[in-house]
Amino acid sequence: MPEKKTRILLVDDNSDDAYLIMESLHKNDPSLSIKIVDNGLECLKRLSEEEYHLMLLDYKIPLRDGLSVLDEIRNKGHTLPIIMVTGFGNETIAVESMKRGAYDYVVKSHTYLDGLPIIISRALDSHKFKKEKERLERQLIQSEKLAGIGTLAAGITHEINNPLQGISSFAELILEAAPPPAVAEYAQKILNLSERIAHIVRRLSQFSRVISQMDLASTQLNWIIDESIELATLSPDFMNIEIRKEYQASACFEAHPTEVSQVFINLLNNAKDAMNGGGQLTIRTRDLDKFTEAEVSDTGPGIPDDVLKQIFDPFFTTKGPGKGTGLGLSISQRIIERYKGEIHIDTKVGKGTTIKVRFPMKTSMQEF
Ligand SMILES: Nc1ncnc2c1ncn2[C@@H]1O[C@H](COP(=O)(O)OP(=O)(O)OP(=O)(O)O)[C@@H](O)[C@H]1O
Ligand SMILES: [Mg+2]
Repeated sequence: MPEKKTRILLVDDNSDDAYLIMESLHKNDPSLSIKIVDNGLECLKRLSEEEYHLMLLDYKIPLRDGLSVLDEIRNKGHTLPIIMVTGFGNETIAVESMKRGAYDYVVKSHTYLDGLPIIISRALDSHKFKKEKERLERQLIQSEKLAGIGTLAAGITHEINNPLQGISSFAELILEAAPPPAVAEYAQKILNLSERIAHIVRRLSQFSRVISQMDLASTQLNWIIDESIELATLSPDFMNIEIRKEYQASACFEAHPTEVSQVFINLLNNAKDAMNGGGQLTIRTRDLDKFTEAEVSDTGPGIPDDVLKQIFDPFFTTKGPGKGTGLGLSISQRIIERYKGEIHIDTKVGKGTTIKVRFPMKTSMQEF
């Protein structure tokens, strides 16, 4: 996959200085993409519309001073590294900006351009390292949570199922005894609610299922997805949803097909629920270097940041009571991780969501 270009936002109202900085950075790395803006308001606007990897912020800019722009950037949750550029004699401001979340500062002297590329590359490396550390920490917490639920589920599934079957059987007996209408209605409600509990228990037990090496089969994404679509679309809720297939993958991978199918059924159902009332569901598959990949895209409302942070949490759901268990994605994640695969989410509020799922191709497989 091609590396993303490093995008730098350069905020300086002195066009000569800005030009010199840009020229010096390009001399060092011609592939840098540098955008120049000359005031604080424009800088905030750009940050909210486009992705940047680093910012060079001149302290003395019109409309808003550099420090208040810095405060606002951090308050809005932008985490990109910021290097403050100050004039000679403004070192106290430089120190203040570090306290408020700037990564580093440079003082405009006659040699400062020489050191700038190194400071930038250090800032980018350190930011990347910090992000990766945060990701690994999140992943660790998530796997511990999932492992905990798996153990709990394995222990209680059986204990719940037995009395539950008893409750359903007694409710059925009441119905068979031709009771008065009100009693029949209550008995039917007991049956429906028992079925709901049974569904949750089935979901939970998917956490703890151990797949043996014997069950693994050589399979392909296109087959599994076709089968998943066939099963998921039995639900009439898919009636107003147009499904498009763009299959290019042909690589095989080893997995338990029913388990992987569960992942896609979860994703198809989530996409369908997101497009409540209709939309387009596109499924693309392709082979990468070492992975075979499927994308499930919907034209739903997208996922806002505060929801996105939690969607892999077991029991997290935004669906109404009785509608979602909040286990679909956490079970899917667990299955994908078991096969050393990956799941990535790309979402834009108002536009839709794309979920990418990757499995390692057969040749690069290790033991599960
Ligand atoms: N394609 C999507 N578009 C918008 N939001 C989504 C999408 N997929 C998942 N979500 C959000 O993530 C939440 C968690 O999804 P998950 O599949 O784990 O549980 P659920 O769908 O709520 O319940 P269940 O899977 O048991 O039906 C959803 O409630 C929804 O808010
Ligand atoms: Mg779901």
